[in-house]
Amino acid sequence: MNSPSVFSSAFPGPRRPAALIFLHWLTLLLIAAVVGLVLVREGVDEKALRTTLINLHRSLGLCVALLALARLAVRLARRPLPPTAAASPLEHFVAMAVHLALYVLMFALPLIGWALSSANGKPVSFFGLVTLPPLVEQDEDLGDAFAEYHEGAAWLLLGLVGAHAAAALAHHFIKRDDVLRAMLPAWLAGPRR
Ligand code: HEM
Ligand code: HEM
Repeated sequence: MNSPSVFSSAFPGPRRPAALIFLHWLTLLLIAAVVGLVLVREGVDEKALRTTLINLHRSLGLCVALLALARLAVRLARRPLPPTAAASPLEHFVAMAVHLALYVLMFALPLIGWALSSANGKPVSFFGLVTLPPLVEQDEDLGDAFAEYHEGAAWLLLGLVGAHAAAALAHHFIKRDDVLRAMLPAWLAGPRR
């Protein structure tokens, strides 16, 4: 029997909790926007627009950490997540390690970004609604160091997300199992049989 396509037939396997699926794909969109904003800012000269772009970067970046908190709450409430495909102990370990590293980075990057802004004397406002207290004292050298950590951590995050997404696609198109389908919204993965 042919393996069912993503868009068509029934998906009998276990589905990840809907809240986890929603938060997972929303986080992907947010990270794309957060990185997109700093890239666009590189090409902008006008000061007011640069400030708007970095403020939006900060606020959306903080949302990544808030969504990660919500995700952890869902995972704790629904633990343990059932396996969605057969995996060797090594595959299982690598997947867990990458997921753990992604969680660490979803908290660490926003925190380093906040610290970097504080060290540079820049207040961090959450969408203009609340201004967060400075995380560290103003110090130019510290600001430079945090900027390097922030950039390094961002590259690490992007590299891990790339490897993680490639593994998900390999599961779907090469191993032809249900790992990706379990993480897709119901309308994409197909109804349960
Ligand atoms: C997951 C969340 C985040 C990601 C993926 C991310 C990623 C990045 C990237 C790729 C850059 C450009 C690095 C460079 O070229 O130097 C950057 C710069 C920056 N980010 Fe973030 N960031 C995140 C969250 C935050 C947060 C929450 C804040 C502050 C509250 C923040 C503050 C900054 C600042 C101030 C810069 C400019 C640094 C400079 O010009 O040296 N970031 N971020
Ligand atoms: C195109 C991009 C992406 C694809 C195709 C993808 C695919 C998947 C799939 C299929 C799973 C289920 C794995 C399993 O059940 O063992 C998963 C889980 C997971 N993904 Fe992604 N993902 C992507 C982007 C991201 C991003 C941007 C992050 C965070 C920075 C992320 C973090 C996670 C985490 C932590 C899990 C474990 C389940 C959870 O706690 O939500 N993924 N992903």
